[in-house]
Amino acid sequence: MRDKELIQHAAEIIRRGGIVAFPTETVYGLGADAFNPLAVARIFEVKRRPYFDPLIVHVAHPADVKKLVKEIPSNAQKLTESFWPGPLTVVLLKDENIPDIVTAGLPTVAIRMPNHPIALSLIKESKCPIAAPSANPFGYLSPTTAEHVRDQLGDQVDLILDGGPCPVGIESTILSFLEEKPRLLRPGGVSLEEIESVIGKVEINPNELEKPSAPGMLPRHYAPRTPIVLDWDEKNLDIYKNKKIGLLAFQETKNHLKFHSLEVLSKKGDLREAAANLFAAIRRLDALDLDLIVAEPIPEIGLGRAIMDRLRRASGKQFADSSLRSE
Ligand code: TXA
Ligand code: MG
Repeated sequence: MRDKELIQHAAEIIRRGGIVAFPTETVYGLGADAFNPLAVARIFEVKRRPYFDPLIVHVAHPADVKKLVKEIPSNAQKLTESFWPGPLTVVLLKDENIPDIVTAGLPTVAIRMPNHPIALSLIKESKCPIAAPSANPFGYLSPTTAEHVRDQLGDQVDLILDGGPCPVGIESTILSFLEEKPRLLRPGGVSLEEIESVIGKVEINPNELEKPSAPGMLPRHYAPRTPIVLDWDEKNLDIYKNKKIGLLAFQETKNHLKFHSLEVLSKKGDLREAAANLFAAIRRLDALDLDLIVAEPIPEIGLGRAIMDRLRRASGKQFADSSLRSE
């Protein structure tokens, strides 16, 4: 089938209450008609995602937000004008017509307009907003290629649209507008610096171990099977002398240790390139049956913040509030 026909076919599946995996600029999503609670329920089943974890609603045009929310605060408006289509999700007070299953019963809804031609045409052709989490089993790394989706969800989804690797490679930045000051709930593809250059300082979500405000905030989210360690040095690796260790390096590494395998996120140390490679690199290491993955720290500026957030969660290490921002 030609691309256009394939997208029409996918849209037909969505309109009939099916679920379709599709590429976005950040990661692959698993989508359903946001106004069809049964279709949305299938997403939760397939992902084995707890029902208390709400989904992001994807729109194809900024004007579509009006129908989904009570009001659009001016800071949210400014940010969507600056960064949509793109990796920014805004959390706003929802309109009553959005099914509770999408928002996990919360009075709010998370919305974004993705910057990917296939995602945008799919939403337009489906003629409905598309509720979609990342297309991975709950708690595992987000997929950045169609093959990642096929490997993990395969025949459980009605169709997988293949758009090649996702150019951003890390999930969207989530900002909530419920309080006076916007609050960063998840660092992501739009950096904090970029956001603050448009609306000034934002609050950073406190570290809520016991009561996560969003399960994407759970400490052991995005976890591979192989243990991943961030706090290490050559000395404490001695105890793993006879073990297979993989190194997830940021740049071309000068490290002389004998690692079983090596992944370099960006030879030239470019944070965008590192973000785009992150999940695929961890997956490749995870497939090698290693005893341990050690990861090099990434500078926490720009996209480095989102990368370190995912690495800390993959390692099961909750971050401290202050580590998100260096002031
Ligand atoms: O880049 C992305 O955001 C990708 C692509 C597919 O758009 N989607 C994605 O969805 O990462 P998901 O479901 O894997 O992560 C969405 C996060 C979850 O942590 C969820 O708890 C949070 O957004 N979330 C959704 N609705 C929310 C709400 N009303 N309030 C607070 N957090 C919310
Ligand atoms: Mg996810």
